[in-house]
Amino acid sequence: MLKRPLIIDCDPGIDDAECLMMVQGSGLFDIRGITAVHGNVPLSHTANNALFLSKLFDMNCPVYLGAEEAMIQRLTRAEYVHGNNGMIDFDTTLPEGATFAEGHAWDFIWEEAVRQNGELEILAVGPLTNLAIAVMKHPELPKLVKNLVIMGGAIRSGNFGVYSEYNIAQDPHACEIVLQAGFPRFTMIDLNACSMAYISSDECEKLRALPETNAFTPLINAILDHREVSKKILMEKGLNFIADEHHHTCDPVAAAVLIDDSVGQFVDKYAFCDCVGEMTTGQTVIDWLGFAPIKNVRIPVAIDRDKFAKIYFDCVKTYDKGGC
Ligand code: RIB
Ligand code: CA
Repeated sequence: MLKRPLIIDCDPGIDDAECLMMVQGSGLFDIRGITAVHGNVPLSHTANNALFLSKLFDMNCPVYLGAEEAMIQRLTRAEYVHGNNGMIDFDTTLPEGATFAEGHAWDFIWEEAVRQNGELEILAVGPLTNLAIAVMKHPELPKLVKNLVIMGGAIRSGNFGVYSEYNIAQDPHACEIVLQAGFPRFTMIDLNACSMAYISSDECEKLRALPETNAFTPLINAILDHREVSKKILMEKGLNFIADEHHHTCDPVAAAVLIDDSVGQFVDKYAFCDCVGEMTTGQTVIDWLGFAPIKNVRIPVAIDRDKFAKIYFDCVKTYDKGGC
């Protein structure tokens, strides 16, 4: 079966790391490149982490540098969740000879869309700045993108602003540009969808029991160890989080939907991103009652948790040299 040509735009970020593990582990994609964007931490770290992870997961694809800052606003970042280096201080020293590809992320996205002649898919799990710049420079881009899946947005409460999810809050103007650009198939995996999919506490024990021969073992153990630290920090900051024993993670939910769309149930709606409200900038506003004459986004209304976990574990297993 032909592999699906894909670009992953991300801001690693520990859940971005799980997402990259899944996409590569699924074996379904011809990953044409990874484009790094500012987000969880500054671009200098997200780009380094993207390149490190591409080597860790043996992805054999170019990594491009993207936007260092949002299009207009500047906000604090999320070192409190992802650590100062963006990977909870996990050692992300690049292997000898690892280098970034020449050229800007947004130009690569356009050039690859032209090369793939309408077959390109894009998974974006950070702020949408790279994608927005690509659309502004090349308005024809959406017509050449077969499938766009993002992790971003909040149809209910946010995790950074009152109603804004982190990726969108970091660059609401980019989100609005992308939402209105005319991507023919645009799935928005928002916080509500992410809350329906998690790795259960029992399944976390299975991750803890992964053999040393699995390339993912050290990183997933560091991520699971970090949960208690991040819960304490989020509680101290008064930020919302789900205080149970499961492993809640966002970007992997978008990866699972990209891998197998049947993991979710979706409705087509019109959405825009508020860019002016004092308290609501960054809110992804959904036209639930259908007043708008068009529908520009697929919104998840249900995610099958068990199916999500199976996809996650099926991908994890592919990293065990011994096969498990
Ligand atoms: O709100 C969660 C999103 O923000 C995830 O993509 C996480 O990596 C951060 O970028
Ligand atoms: Ca991310």
